[in-house]
Amino acid sequence: MILVRLLTVVGACFLRIIKNIYSKIQKRQRSKITRRLLNQIYYQTNSMGISRSERNRLNIDTDDFIYGEIEFSSFSNILDRVQPRSNEIFYDLGCGAGKAVLSAAMNFDLSKIVGIELLPGLCQLANEKIQYARSLVGNDHFYLKKLSNIKIINDNLNHCDISESDIVFVNATCFGYTAWKKIQEKFLSLKIGSRVIVTTQSIDDDRFLYLSQRFELMSWGINSVNTYKKIK
Ligand SMILES: C[S@@+](CC[C@H](N)C(=O)[O-])C[C@H]1O[C@@H](n2cnc3c(N)ncnc32)[C@H](O)[C@@H]1O
Repeated sequence: MILVRLLTVVGACFLRIIKNIYSKIQKRQRSKITRRLLNQIYYQTNSMGISRSERNRLNIDTDDFIYGEIEFSSFSNILDRVQPRSNEIFYDLGCGAGKAVLSAAMNFDLSKIVGIELLPGLCQLANEKIQYARSLVGNDHFYLKKLSNIKIINDNLNHCDISESDIVFVNATCFGYTAWKKIQEKFLSLKIGSRVIVTTQSIDDDRFLYLSQRFELMSWGINSVNTYKKIK
């Protein structure tokens, strides 16, 4: 009797270990496929050129709109650090060509992924990339579901309600003093427990707990990335 019980326990443990190993292998394979897909989607894309011509067309000459973007190789590590949970909502304030939005959607199990971008040409590009991603994944429901959760909003981020988000990313290196001050005011509408990831800038408010600073690769080089949690 004892032997049977012992064998059952050992068998269950063994099965659990095999299951864990299998899911780790599957996860690693998925992330390789995702990386390959993302690189293919943005292969030879001139987002910076589109940003420049849009700024010329609309007579925008403030530094807040200087273009730069995330690198896929570092962005999933950056996001991983704030431990996204399934059913959480991610916002990218100033999403440009949508690299961070697509990377968040395809690498994590988020329920909604929103990118806000003022320049129409970049919004159009981001939407084209989502369409292209859809065509590449074919009937793969794993990716199709993730892609259907993405929404790109063509607007000034200062006019948008971001209060539903759990994780906010702002690639804010070029944002000037006034722009950054306005964005910090927007953060006050976030829920307690929300996390904010921001390049270069810092949040000076005791309602936000400073979590970490790391240096990560961006399209223009290595840059500081700060993370915060709303606690009050
Ligand atoms: C440095 S880029 C980051 C792009 C993207 N988040 C990434 O990391 O790959 C910043 C973007 O914010 C946009 N932007 C700047 N101010 C904005 C505003 N007030 N409202 C909406 N978008 C804005 C710019 O046009 C630009 O595309």
